[in-house]
Parts: sequence; structure tokens; C-alpha cells
Amino acid sequence: MKRALIPGTFDPITAGHLDIITRASTLVDEVVVGVAQSAGKNPLFSVDERLALVKEATQHLKNVSAVSFDCLLVDFANEIGAKILIKGLRAITDFEYEFQMTALNYQLDKQIETVFIMSPPQFMYLSSSIVREIASLKGEVGGFVPECVKTALETKFA
Ligand code: PNS
Repeated sequence: MKRALIPGTFDPITAGHLDIITRASTLVDEVVVGVAQSAGKNPLFSVDERLALVKEATQHLKNVSAVSFDCLLVDFANEIGAKILIKGLRAITDFEYEFQMTALNYQLDKQIETVFIMSPPQFMYLSSSIVREIASLKGEVGGFVPECVKTALETKFA
């Protein structure tokens, strides 16, 4: 059985993340979305809030589950038995950061393969940070995020 891990901070999960998760779910038997604690990034949503939003946004995908983690990515992948990391790649700006992480993860564990799925054009520009900024300024985020995230953002910035 092929199990893949999609890691990220998901602060919060966007329509772009959901697109990658959905497409990944058709490529492997099981997808685990790993919600990183990422305390150093000072997230807007707590890890429990981010995890709950990922779970709600993906509940219609039967072979997708979500778990939070606070350790090295390769250690978490081994813990859950995932030998494939799947990540989304947006514009060229993502490339250097992802290139570095992929190289380092490969150095840490050569049994774990990183695979990229390109974001479709409509999500190339989309990021959690832009969504947070729009929401903080009371802009319309519908279309950029799942409905549950829109509600959570409205509550957060009420
Ligand atoms: O959505 P993000 O913030 O770009 O995701 C980054 C994430 C969570 C994938 C990355 O920070 C990560 O892998 N964190 C776990 C700790 C770790 O293994 N760091 C070394 C990576 S080479």
C-alpha cells in the first residue's frame, strides 16, 4: 500500500493546498496531511485549530487523514510509514526553498522520496500569508479558501 505524506504549516489551509491534496489522493492509496507545529513561524491559528480545519476541509476525501507533528519531517514520515512526500510547487519563487528542503530531507533519509505536483494557474499566486492579510483587512477570501476556513478567519479577525 502506498502512503504519502503532505507536510505543511497550513496557516490556514487554502484552496491551493486542497487542490494538491485532492490530486495526490488519486495517485496513492492513502494520503496523510501532516500539520507542522511550526512554532517558529508564529502561526495565526494554533496547531489544533489548523488541524481541525484541514480535517474539515478534506472530510469528503475518503483516503485522506490529517495528523499534527512537532519533529523532523523524515522522522514523522517514518513514524507513519510514509515513504513518499508530496508537495505543491507554485511559481518559481517556491523553487529554491523546496529545492533546499528536498536535498536536506534526502540527505537525512534516502529511503524517502519527494514528489512535486505543480499548482494550476489559478492557484499559482495563492498563499496562506496572502489569505491572512486579505482577511485581516476584511477582504473577501471566498474562492481562495474552503468555506470552514473563511468562517474561521472571519471569527479570528472579528
Ligand atoms: O507550509 P510550510 O510552512 O512551507 O511547510 C514547511 C514544513 C512544515 C514542510 C517544514 O518546515 C518542515 O518540514 N518542518 C518539519 C521540521 C523539519 O524536518 N525541518 C527540516 C526540513 S529539511
